Amino acid sequence: MEISQFVLATRPLGLPTSENFRMEKAVLKDLHDNEILLKPWYISVDPYMRGRMNSTKSYAPSFEVDQPIKGGIVAKVIESKSKSVMAGDVVVGTMPWATYCVEKPENLRKVDVRKVPPGYYLGILGMPGFTAYIGMMKICKPVKGDTVVVSGAAGAVGIVAGQIAKLQGARVVGVAGSDEKCRLLKDKFGYDEVINYKTSKSIRKELATLCPEGVDAYFDNVGGEITESVAANLDFHARIALCGQISQYNNPKPYIGYSILPHLLTRSVLLQGFIVSNYSDHFSEAISNLTQWLNEGKLKFTETIITGFEKLPDAFLGLFNGTNLGKMLVKTE
Ligand SMILES: NC(=O)c1ccc[n+]([C@@H]2O[C@H](COP(=O)([O-])OP(=O)(O)OC[C@H]3O[C@@H](n4cnc5c(N)ncnc54)[C@H](OP(=O)(O)O)[C@@H]3O)[C@@H](O)[C@H]2O)c1
Repeated sequence: MEISQFVLATRPLGLPTSENFRMEKAVLKDLHDNEILLKPWYISVDPYMRGRMNSTKSYAPSFEVDQPIKGGIVAKVIESKSKSVMAGDVVVGTMPWATYCVEKPENLRKVDVRKVPPGYYLGILGMPGFTAYIGMMKICKPVKGDTVVVSGAAGAVGIVAGQIAKLQGARVVGVAGSDEKCRLLKDKFGYDEVINYKTSKSIRKELATLCPEGVDAYFDNVGGEITESVAANLDFHARIALCGQISQYNNPKPYIGYSILPHLLTRSVLLQGFIVSNYSDHFSEAISNLTQWLNEGKLKFTETIITGFEKLPDAFLGLFNGTNLGKMLVKTE
């Protein structure tokens, strides 16, 4: 069977471009026992995939040049030679960016798409949702009356993290990159205050005005200047969940900003970096609470869905200029 797939054509230096990807034809082998034929349906593009385009060693293995890009995918089972999965089932897991693929069912999870949109298993009920839950509940640990700041607030993780903080009784301030995102964060997702970092004259001063008693917890998705501005406004015994540094992912040279460490020292701040896959012990708690809050209408979510398999590189590149509100997904049909 002939398929189309995306491979890594070249490794980017700095901001990736569509030239770093190549769509090509390939031939799928026939199914063997315990294998299933899948049709990727919703394909996730995630900021961490930028790191996998480099050759440097990290927590997620590098993509190989001329080999398929792989990531989170919700797929339809077309044919099955497995006893655990049947044709017609829908599964989620890591798969290649391909129009069809053959996988073993062991590393895939069957999902029910009758009650929630399929893409939610790549968003609020998947890796980004778990990340928001763990970073907020296990590291930021907001309590009633706390002021919590979330950067990257309108992305897949941030949109959930801020709402979780609200559910714990905190006052939540978001930082995002457009007036429209800021409006929606306040009107639809319950954020108390929001700063547009692209138009703010001084994020640091705006934060000082919005958080007069200091910031008790900071969920950091972006790093760089935004994080420096938050650090200058931290209260004593603040907690920082160091989740992501998207502002730095395309910097070929290490960022040398002003050091946040003196603020952390003098205000006894606790900073914890974390990678969600290392917190699998908490996944069942996360999915159970996120599902309950969703069902009760206490959590809202949104997706930016681009239709067309061939749009995958554009969707991925859009993460770095803020094209998405909530989870960025490519729907293949
Ligand atoms: N630690 C973990 O295990 C883990 C797991 C998942 C994700 N993460 C990290 O968490 C962060 C958010 O992930 P996500 O899935 O929510 O991302 P996402 O939905 O893809 O959102 C990315 C958003 O980041 C913002 N952004 C892009 N470049 C920026 C810059 N230079 N400065 C400030 N903001 C910028 C953009 O929104 P604006 O319009 O606001 O600029 C963009 O929409 C990423 O850094 C990701 O790597 C970590």
